[in-house]
Amino acid sequence: MSEQLFDLLIRGGTVVDGSGAAGLQADVGVRGERIAAIGTLDGRAQRVIDATGLVIAPGFIDVHAHDDAAVLTSPMDFKLMQGVTTDIVGNCGAGVAPTRADGSVGMPGVEIVLGPLPEATWHTFGEYMDAVDAAHPALNVACLVPHGAVRAKNIGLDARPADEDELRAMREDVAEGMAAGAVGLSTGLIYPPGSFAGTDEIVELARVAAQHGGAYVSHIRNEGDHLMEAVQEAVTIGREAGLPVQISHHKAGSPAVWGKTRDSIAYIEEQRSRGLDITFDVYPYTAASTVLSAFARAAEGIDPDSVIVASVEKKREYEGKTLTQIAQMLGVAPQDAASRVLQDEPAAVAVFFLMHEDDVRRVLSHPLCMIGSDGLPSPTGKPHPRLYGTFPRVLGTYVREESLLTLEEAVRKMSGLPSQRFGLAGRGALRKGWFADIVVFDPQTVADVATYEEPRQYPAGIEYVIVNGQIAAERGRQTAARAGRLLRRNNAA
Ligand code: CU
Ligand code: ZN
Repeated sequence: MSEQLFDLLIRGGTVVDGSGAAGLQADVGVRGERIAAIGTLDGRAQRVIDATGLVIAPGFIDVHAHDDAAVLTSPMDFKLMQGVTTDIVGNCGAGVAPTRADGSVGMPGVEIVLGPLPEATWHTFGEYMDAVDAAHPALNVACLVPHGAVRAKNIGLDARPADEDELRAMREDVAEGMAAGAVGLSTGLIYPPGSFAGTDEIVELARVAAQHGGAYVSHIRNEGDHLMEAVQEAVTIGREAGLPVQISHHKAGSPAVWGKTRDSIAYIEEQRSRGLDITFDVYPYTAASTVLSAFARAAEGIDPDSVIVASVEKKREYEGKTLTQIAQMLGVAPQDAASRVLQDEPAAVAVFFLMHEDDVRRVLSHPLCMIGSDGLPSPTGKPHPRLYGTFPRVLGTYVREESLLTLEEAVRKMSGLPSQRFGLAGRGALRKGWFADIVVFDPQTVADVATYEEPRQYPAGIEYVIVNGQIAAERGRQTAARAGRLLRRNNAA
């Protein structure tokens, strides 16, 4: 074997390539931003990483991120430290573009979900994508065009159907983002103003995404009592508009429907057998998290013990407490605590324990399911620990401890499957000539450390994270590398 010179040589690990195939003992050589060779490599390198006993895998792709602003304003440590090398932003219909004439997004509470917004230097979605690329984020970013922002720009917060002119303007905005290389259209049908749109409006906009080869990605209209109707609506949109469908953070989101994921998954499988390309994603926790107001609208009479208030800009003393505890602090009835918190801070975020472990396991272990954190990158408060722990939690809890999944299958859900779904050419697998987005982790120790009480903690066992050939994190420390870039669907535009 001829001697080769690599920039980086990762030696002696188990290569789990992202396809689901069994891991193999091999070395990985990197030159520049790409994988130059995989095999028994006898070569010199600028830098050698000894991966004995470790797994070498493709960098993880977080299919459900809300880091639209964070990729511009933060080092993205909370994702990189998990082994995430690509973030897909613009989920749940929420985003920071397109903007209205005054530069604002016009979605209520959007800065609470997405974190502090930088001053917009963009108007169109394509301009936002260019701004991300120019900012040199620490990881790669792909984007969904968020329906809520598109609707807020063109219709404001009016709770009514779009008229012909508004629909035309929304179509143009979606087309602009898709032409610039967005990977699909997202909706958040429980959040205003997306919730004001009927199925027909979304079909019209999804057709535009379809023309550009994008996917339809949805936080569906109901994850509780009307779960099945909401999944059916997503299927209708996929069929009528003619594009792939991704159900975001699939769950049975209230005790009344625990077990219902059996039916929803059977229905999804049936739709697939009838030709619809439909998939879903999940975060590996039984608690959800969103703005408190959305939940108060969705379900009256929630158990106040099952809700932990996560971030309240104007009343920090509520953070980390249940609604029952807050009621005691305020001397009000537990059922009134949520509205009192919302009076003090309309944009309060909370964590809701509303799923059953069996449903989480059923969804997570299904071959059509990818991993998405749904992390809310708030710089303050006590965010849901999924922001820091999602990917290591799957590998530690569900692979090593519970054997719900094989390691190879879990890695496929975090790399190969999402890269196919979202057209991320040259990524999501370890292959010669592909981009060197790589994570090296210890399968014996990998674990989430973040808890509901102390969520801001990096995981254990993620040894090296490499983005476009550069070491972005090393033994639990982020480096100065800013090697990420904006990824366009199948390298479009
Ligand atoms: Cu979301
Ligand atoms: Zn959502």
